[in-house]
Amino acid sequence: MRIVVGVCGGIAAYKVVGVIRTLVLRGHDVHVIPTDSALKFIGAPTFEAISRNPIATDLFDGVAEVKHVSLGQSADVILVAPATANTIAKIANGLSDDLLTNSILASTAPLVVAPAMHTEMWQNPATQHNVATLVDRGAHIVWPESGQLTGSDVGVGRLAEPESIIAGVVAAAGSRDLAGTRVIITAGGTREPIDPVRFIGNRSSGKQGVALAEAARDRGADVVLIGANLEVAPPVGVDFVPVSTVAELRDGVVSRSPDADIVVMAAAVSDYRPVTVATTKMKKDAEGDSFSIELTANPDILAELGQRQHPRPVLVGFAAETEADAGELIARGAGKAERKNADLIAVNRVDEGRGFGAADNEVTIVDRYGEVHARAAGSKREVADAILAAARGVRA
Ligand SMILES: Cc1cc2nc3c(=O)[nH]c(=O)nc-3n(C[C@H](O)[C@H](O)[C@H](O)COP(=O)(O)O)c2cc1C
Repeated sequence: MRIVVGVCGGIAAYKVVGVIRTLVLRGHDVHVIPTDSALKFIGAPTFEAISRNPIATDLFDGVAEVKHVSLGQSADVILVAPATANTIAKIANGLSDDLLTNSILASTAPLVVAPAMHTEMWQNPATQHNVATLVDRGAHIVWPESGQLTGSDVGVGRLAEPESIIAGVVAAAGSRDLAGTRVIITAGGTREPIDPVRFIGNRSSGKQGVALAEAARDRGADVVLIGANLEVAPPVGVDFVPVSTVAELRDGVVSRSPDADIVVMAAAVSDYRPVTVATTKMKKDAEGDSFSIELTANPDILAELGQRQHPRPVLVGFAAETEADAGELIARGAGKAERKNADLIAVNRVDEGRGFGAADNEVTIVDRYGEVHARAAGSKREVADAILAAARGVRA
C-alpha cells in the first residue's frame, strides 16, 4: 500500500516515528509529509531514514511533478498523526496552505486522523465541531485516549497507541474480508541437498508468497507463512515457519492444514531429489569428467492436500509456465487443478523479467473447468489481493 503520513507539530510526533517504521516493515510504501511545526519536533533525516523515502515538505518544491496534488492522488490511504487542533481545523474547513492540507484536499483516498492535544484544546467546542465535520465526511478517527499528557496533567487527548493507529490505517484502506480465517501460505524455493555444499534449487525469491502473507494479514486473516529459502524478510504479524527441503515444507503444511481455511501453495518445489546425499563434498578428481545423480520423485504436496476428506481448506496452487499462448495457459491451469483436485490454480508466465524474482507478476486464476476467476497484473501485492479475493469467493 502507498501510505501518505502527515505529521503535525505536537510532542506525540515522536511516537509516530514508530508507527511509520512498523508500516514500512510491513511492506508499505510510506511517504511522510511533516508540517513545518512537526519539523521543530523531529528532524527530516529521521523521517527519511525511517520511511526509506525522501520526505516532501515545502509546497513549492518539486513543482514540475505537481507534488501538491500528486502525493494525495497516488495515496491508497492518508494518515494524519499526531493531528493537531490546527490541522484538524484546516482540513475541516477545506484550507490548503501547506503541502499536507493540499495533498488531503486533492485526494479521494480514505483519511485516517489520530488527534493528540491537551484536554482543553480537545474539548474546545471549535475542535469538537471540526472533528464532527470530519466524521460526517467519512474520515476515520483513531480517538485519543485518556491518560498522562506531556506535562503533569492527566486527561483525554493523548495520542492512541501505535497498534490502534496501524489497525485504523489497515481497516480504512482495505476490507477485512478474511477476518477470522486461517490461511497458510507457502513461499520461496526448496533446496534438495546433493552434498554438504550443493543443492538442486530454483529461482524463486519468495516475493509473491510473502506478498500473499502480507495481504492475507492485512485482510484480517491469521496467517502461517511456510517459507523456503526466502530472499525477502517475512512480514511481521504472521507466524513464520522456515523450511528448506520439500520434505520439510510438506511436514509444515500437512501438519497445519487440518486447521486451515485456505492454503495457497506459492512455493516453487523441486519435483525430484537426489536418492543419496553425499556426507562430504563431492570432488571433481573423484568423479571424473562426467557423472550422474540419480533422482527420486518428491511427494506431491498439492495433490496430497487435494485428496483429504471434506471439509478441506480451499486449495490454491500455482503453475509457472513458459507457454505464451493465453488459451493454452488456461488449459494447463485447468488440467493441473483437475489432476491435483485443487480449487484454483494461479497460472503465471515466467520468462526473463517476469515471474521469478521480479517485482511484478501476471496471473490468470482458473478452476478445473477452465473458468477464469480473476486476472491480475501488477505488483505482487496486487496479484496477491486478487488471488485471495478469488479464494474467498470459492469459500463463500
Ligand atoms: C511544545 C509544544 C507542544 C505542542 N503540542 C501540541 C499538541 O500536542 N497538539 C496540538 O494540537 N498542538 C500542539 N502544539 C501547538 C502546535 O504546534 C501549533 O498549533 C502549530 O501551529 C501546529 O501546526 P501544524 O498543525 O501545521 O503542525 C504544541 C506546541 C508546542 C510549542
